[in-house]
Amino acid sequence: MAAFVIIGTIIAVLALNVHETSAWSVSCSNPFSTCYGQLKSCPANCAQWCEVDCTTCNVQCACDKPGAVCQDPRFIGGDGVMFYFHGEKEKDFCIVSDPALHINAHFIGKRGSGMTRDFTWVQSLGILFSSHQLYIGAQTVGSWDNHVDALSLSFDGQPIVLPPRLGAVHDIPEAGVQITRVEGKNAVAIEVKGSMKLEAHVVPITKQESRVHNYDITSENCFAHLDLNFQFFNLSNDVNGILGQTYVPGYKSPVKVGIPMPILGGEHNYVSSSLFKTDCAVSKFGTVSSGSIRPASSVSCKNSDSGRGFICRR
Ligand SMILES: *[C@@H]1O[C@H](CO)[C@@H](O)[C@H](O)[C@H]1NC(C)=O
Repeated sequence: MAAFVIIGTIIAVLALNVHETSAWSVSCSNPFSTCYGQLKSCPANCAQWCEVDCTTCNVQCACDKPGAVCQDPRFIGGDGVMFYFHGEKEKDFCIVSDPALHINAHFIGKRGSGMTRDFTWVQSLGILFSSHQLYIGAQTVGSWDNHVDALSLSFDGQPIVLPPRLGAVHDIPEAGVQITRVEGKNAVAIEVKGSMKLEAHVVPITKQESRVHNYDITSENCFAHLDLNFQFFNLSNDVNGILGQTYVPGYKSPVKVGIPMPILGGEHNYVSSSLFKTDCAVSKFGTVSSGSIRPASSVSCKNSDSGRGFICRR
């Protein structure tokens, strides 16, 4: 047993909030790594959310890793290719659709003056698996206060109350769901055993971002939204959706690589009629899968027998 380390991923995190305004420090928590336990500061562009890659010992912004959906949604595909998807405010889009897992994202946003499209952000997710419905969302907030929890969670329509402290856990054993606070407020990790894991941070549009991008945000609504990073353990070869399709082996991204803002179009393919509907045009939910994707990784990993993430051997 000592030869194995059970970790959700080879990237492990320990976040210590030194000061509200200063960068967080993180370290690798895999004892087999050469940088085990060494504290490293988060880079300035992701001062509050970064991770140490225990294999390379590099510090990485969580929003720059594969599986990221952050900001005005900027995706990093499973193939590592970055792209934007604008969608439309007050609409729902399927970001992952697979026979046993479907995830819709609700977009909020606003139309900037003189703009022909909306600025958009992901406000909430509707996650469907088995016959279950899991909701995570950012509440509507006027002026942002990091000391106030603006996160909403519910499972099969019932609100989940999670005490506002680091490490607080809510288990739903019959559905294989575990929700853990990764900060005292506004950040959780959600695991659906054997299927997926995500980390979500509720963040506002700051005055500075509003100024730089001309979002025109007022103190009435700071457009609190989710920054997300996903890991998938059981996708099939049929997986589709804005993010999901990028995990298909051999996927060729249609976006122009190398330009500052590559944009994925084809919005009509991904629009769902509501947050818990699986009716987007590319939907695969509930179909029979034609085989599953083996998780690609440089270290040797397999699903643990307990169904809790991966077992990785170095
Ligand atoms: C894994 O995927 C297969 C095929 O899509 C599905 O039948 C099975 O229920 C999935 N397992 C989990 C834990 O989601």
